[in-house]
Amino acid sequence: MKTVLGVIGSPRRLGNSEIMVKEISRQVPEEHRLCLLRLSDFTIRPCRGCYACLFNEERCIQKDDLEPLQKAILEADALIMAAPTYFLGINAVVKQVVDRGLAFYPHIERLWGKPSVGVCIAGIPGKEGHGLLGVENFLRMLLTDNKANQLVYGALPGEVFLNEANLSTAAELGKALFSPAPERTGPRCPRCGGDTFRFLGGSRVRCMLCSNEGQIRPGSGGPSFSIGKSEHDMFLSLEDAVGHRAWLRGMKDRFLENKAALKEITTGYRKQGEWINSKS
Ligand SMILES: Cc1cc2nc3c(=O)[nH]c(=O)nc-3n(C[C@H](O)[C@H](O)[C@H](O)COP(=O)(O)O)c2cc1C
Repeated sequence: MKTVLGVIGSPRRLGNSEIMVKEISRQVPEEHRLCLLRLSDFTIRPCRGCYACLFNEERCIQKDDLEPLQKAILEADALIMAAPTYFLGINAVVKQVVDRGLAFYPHIERLWGKPSVGVCIAGIPGKEGHGLLGVENFLRMLLTDNKANQLVYGALPGEVFLNEANLSTAAELGKALFSPAPERTGPRCPRCGGDTFRFLGGSRVRCMLCSNEGQIRPGSGGPSFSIGKSEHDMFLSLEDAVGHRAWLRGMKDRFLENKAALKEITTGYRKQGEWINSKS
């Protein structure tokens, strides 16, 4: 039987994220075992930027709960993820996991292509900021085959299902999980399906999900986009992800080549300023 991992981004027990994940699971037609994890139950420290996980033993040197979290993700056949908007963006526990993404690179081949669906919950209609983008970013950085994502509104725990339309949303996501991805509507990035863009001047735009650049064209049925490809695509294909890992691993040689010049730059800043810490 398939194992579906429900990833709950909210610390709130039986909050909207948790019941949304459980409702989506109820709506998945395929028989499955639902395993759940609440990200805030795991101690995930900030990435130290040391790159040790890409070399030597290919694991993070920090002693925290990243490995059990990785194990659950690696062992799952599919992911259902939901997380709340906090202050116009995804809440921090979700981003903390994404920030440890380098430690996932040794596992690219096992991660690639697990089906996923995601939900962002916001309490105030229209005030989700970039919360949904944060959910998509989490699922794409884990190299899942992201079938669909939705934004729903509800503030009080349980409130999402006072609105019956959100039950239908859960049903659609449940059906999508192990099926071909439903067509995504609205103006979107033709590369990755993202719907959030930065305007760079003139008709130039950059997709905020895959970070590729191109042009926006007005049209009678809404704008359309032509978006190019870059040398650093992280999740568009397995080949891209593996290529990015190779580039990251090359960072060590680049560091060694430039070590003296880099040291000269940084040393000049060593003694400046007075540090404040928690014991000050
Ligand atoms: C610290 C905090 C910040 C929040 N910021 C926003 C916000 O910027 N926009 C919004 O629409 N809702 C905001 N909310 C509301 C939550 O997104 C909403 O209550 C959601 O249902 C929480 O999901 P949960 O029940 O799974 O915890 C915030 C809630 C908290 C606790």
